[in-house]
Amino acid sequence: MFVAAAIAGALLYGQHCASCHGADLRGSVNAPSIRGAGAAQVDFWVGTGRMPAALPWVEEGHRRTPFTREQIDALIAYVTSVQPGGAAIPVVLPGGDPRRGRTLFEQNCEHCHGAYAQGASIGSSEWAPSLRDASRVQLAEAVRIGPGQMPPFAEQQLGGRDLDDVAAYVESLDAGADRPLVPLTSSGPVPEGLLGWLAVGLLIVFAFGYSRSSR
Ligand code: HEC
Ligand code: HEC
Repeated sequence: MFVAAAIAGALLYGQHCASCHGADLRGSVNAPSIRGAGAAQVDFWVGTGRMPAALPWVEEGHRRTPFTREQIDALIAYVTSVQPGGAAIPVVLPGGDPRRGRTLFEQNCEHCHGAYAQGASIGSSEWAPSLRDASRVQLAEAVRIGPGQMPPFAEQQLGGRDLDDVAAYVESLDAGADRPLVPLTSSGPVPEGLLGWLAVGLLIVFAFGYSRSSR
């Protein structure tokens, strides 16, 4: 089974990856070596559509992958057959605690990805993307491998259960649940206008009361 997948993967690799990563996976002027890249690494870069890149060294964001699940598994089988090792694809269990996940997110992710995981600038034209498009597994993979400017988090920093919880929090944002009340400053002209009139009204009431009591 694995051997058949690895052979299918070798063909796909030759067609879609070798021009940049080299026939022996050792890289070229166009791309780094991916010898020893594990299953999580290949699954993330290919599964999020970042690879195959259209042009060398041009950053790709999350896109629809051109490959089927079987083809991605075949590529993983091939790359890990050339040199075993690297992180396995993490398992993320459903039913994580979004409240706990939110605290972990605030501590570890928010300063780059933004409070609502909407994406944010991390300086010098670098951008931490929105997490809306990533699946739970892709989220856990990113945390373990640390793509691009993102640091990897080891098991001791964020354990498996922590990742279940972070994934549950990010999913709750997608669903629109557990979203805190939007602060007033960004609520637009109508509510602010209303608040203004309310303040004026209160002032008049106070002024009226004051002028009566001081008479
Ligand atoms: C047009 C050239 C190009 C093609 C084709 C290409 N890659 Fe890449 N790949 C790159 C470059 C450049 C990087 C480094 C990207 C970065 O760090 O932003 C990269 C990074 C990667 C990484 C992450 C390596 C690391 O250590 O971070 C993996 C895994 C990968 N590619 C797998 C593949 C696979 C599998 C294919 C074929 C399906 C493929 N690539 C096709 C250019 C290419
Ligand atoms: C230092 C800033 C930084 C921190 C901290 C950080 N990230 Fe990232 N993250 C990035 C950047 C930059 C990328 C894009 C990498 C690339 O495409 O080369 C990214 C990519 C991702 C992606 C891929 C999104 C997609 O759809 O392709 C996920 C998921 C992700 N991060 C989750 C997390 C989680 C969860 C945490 C906290 C545990 C976290 N990140 C912490 C900077 C950061």
